[in-house]
Amino acid sequence: MRIAVVGGTGDFGLALAQQLVLAGEEVVIGSRDAERAREKAGGVGAAGAANEDAVRGVDLVILAVKSDAALPTAEYLVDAIDHTPVLSVASELRFTKQGVYPTEDGRSIAERTQEILHAPVVAGLHSLAAASLAQGKADGDALVCGDDDDAKELALELAAKVVSGRALDAGPLASARALEGMTAVIVNLNRRYKGHAGVRIVGLP
Ligand SMILES: NC(=O)c1ccc[n+]([C@@H]2O[C@H](COP(=O)([O-])OP(=O)(O)OC[C@H]3O[C@@H](n4cnc5c(N)ncnc54)[C@H](OP(=O)(O)O)[C@@H]3O)[C@@H](O)[C@H]2O)c1
Repeated sequence: MRIAVVGGTGDFGLALAQQLVLAGEEVVIGSRDAERAREKAGGVGAAGAANEDAVRGVDLVILAVKSDAALPTAEYLVDAIDHTPVLSVASELRFTKQGVYPTEDGRSIAERTQEILHAPVVAGLHSLAAASLAQGKADGDALVCGDDDDAKELALELAAKVVSGRALDAGPLASARALEGMTAVIVNLNRRYKGHAGVRIVGLP
């Protein structure tokens, strides 16, 4: 599989790219700055390019930019991405003195990204900590949701390569509301217990 990681210069995208390269995938890291992409990519055995070049000719695009840049980046790349499936990993969080809250918007970033792009959007990997991925496969399961079966199958195949547990189909794209919201829970757990929490689903065959 050839995979583009848009915003792959960041903590999460770079760690994910590294694990995918180790799993034998062909990865191109995207950045707003092609030189920065090439520099970061060199460290993990990937290729690097400007975002709009990175997404051309790949099988799957992972949108891994800073969360508040996800929608503007989707708008910027809509023509370059065309109909290539997109995996959204973003969660919108509000940091307050009382703790971390999910967004007040009823719809997920993934659903709003789907409204912008022509491509099928799936969502997943929200519970994988960048710090864990930087050390190896992330501990736990990966949950992936989406409305397009083929795109979801691709994302599940990819997800299975970067976790110690299983990649699980969590239903339609609307499930992204829960998956993105769960990130707030995980960040609160990490703060309270000083760790890198993941999730493991029990009770499935
Ligand atoms: N960190 C985690 O543990 C974790 C876990 C699960 C999911 N996620 C999700 O993964 C995504 C990336 O997280 P991160 O912690 O790696 O974020 P990050 O380091 O803050 O940012 C990632 C990249 O986003 C790009 N970027 C920043 N501002 C931008 C803008 N205004 N327009 C376009 N691109 C911009 C930057 O790339 P260039 O400057 O090179 O263009 C940056 O390297 C987020 O959506 C997050 O919710 C993170």
